[in-house]
Amino acid sequence: MSASRSILLIIGGGIAAYKCLELIRRLKDRGISSRCILTKAGAEFVTPLAVSSLAGERCFTDLFSLTDEADIGHIALSRSTDLLVVAPATADLIAKMATGLANDLASTALLATDKRVLIAPAMNPRMWQHPATRRNMAQLEKDGVLVVGPNSGAMAERGESGPGRMAEPAEILAAIELALAGEAPCQRAIGFLGRLPGGASTQGPLAGQHVLVTSGPTHEAIDPVRYIANRSSGKQGHAIAAAAAAAGARVTLVSGPVTIADPDGVETIRVESAREMLAAVEAALPADIAIFSAAVADWRVADEATEKMKKDGSGLPPLALIENPDILATVAHRQSGRPGLVVGFAAETENVIAYAQAKLAKKGCDLIVANDVGGTGVMGGDANTVHLVTRDGVESWPTLAKQEVATRLVAHIARLAAMRAGT
Ligand code: CTP
Repeated sequence: MSASRSILLIIGGGIAAYKCLELIRRLKDRGISSRCILTKAGAEFVTPLAVSSLAGERCFTDLFSLTDEADIGHIALSRSTDLLVVAPATADLIAKMATGLANDLASTALLATDKRVLIAPAMNPRMWQHPATRRNMAQLEKDGVLVVGPNSGAMAERGESGPGRMAEPAEILAAIELALAGEAPCQRAIGFLGRLPGGASTQGPLAGQHVLVTSGPTHEAIDPVRYIANRSSGKQGHAIAAAAAAAGARVTLVSGPVTIADPDGVETIRVESAREMLAAVEAALPADIAIFSAAVADWRVADEATEKMKKDGSGLPPLALIENPDILATVAHRQSGRPGLVVGFAAETENVIAYAQAKLAKKGCDLIVANDVGGTGVMGGDANTVHLVTRDGVESWPTLAKQEVATRLVAHIARLAAMRAGT
């Protein structure tokens, strides 16, 4: 499916260069091969040996290396790939790109390429906000360069914080998948260029939209130490939230208890129970798009014990259950303030499509993403096989990595939302 996809990764000179090692590994897991150029400054932070060991190919470093030129010239290097990715894109590299300078292998490849370019800026906040960098970024935007990040946060420099942290490998990967899928209606820009207060972006297929995502399981307390739970890891929902952010949305992620990290560039609200999840979802509305991927517990115990239940010899405790609120149905049936597009998931172990069609009608949502969770390790695993069920029909996808499901789903949802909005 994705074996032939390749990128040319240009690693610039910044402390964030170390994150590229993880990015290369993650790309490989997705079947995307990376050929790498390490700039002179980049080589101060990571070694060519580390890069080439992970990429499984020699790492290119020098424009005038006769061996490299004999093997593959810089023109061929920049064109025999599907996408150029610059990470970290330093202020210097961005300035070179904006002015068309070509005085080393990286800048020459960037000028010689006929492929799309995605950059992951990383620099000190003052450098990022400097009028010169603003000008250069505006120029790159005009030139059609795709951007992911930067994020805000603490810098490597002591006491400094603000926008300038390179996007995390998972976010860069999501942006790469989106760019490679070529499915996004907006072919020009994907990332956080011109990020608005609150995390939204002025660019990308979901620019200016608020996307609400639920993810993970819920825990329903039996007593202070015991609870009812399920096997959901949150991997699919979190990947969807990251992909929506990479597509330019302002994203609110309401997550049940999970062990995975909060995605960067997303506002994550952590909850425990279904009732807390519903309250957090309602507080986060209005939203343009709501995606309910959480595995919400259907039931909770009727009488949660305030003290730990003891084996007192009087037999087994009676655990009477009552039904939890259905968060998806509650939001989809709202008379006012219903999100323009409401997407549900259906976890089934049999009759997947038929049950999903029934859920679509019963819950009042616009799209159900149905998956077979019966015995295949989907819950907690890294891959997913989904069917997109709407009133108009069913679209079945092959088994894909959850990250790729997320990227494709976000592109699909962006198209549906745009069609509904008549744009
Ligand atoms: N859902 C929800 N609130 C609930 C139960 C489910 O919001 N209390 C949402 C899930 O997030 C998912 C969809 O409803 O988007 C379907 O969830 P699923 O567990 O497949 O179905 P259930 O409604 O729980 O029905 P059943 O367990 O009978 O299959």
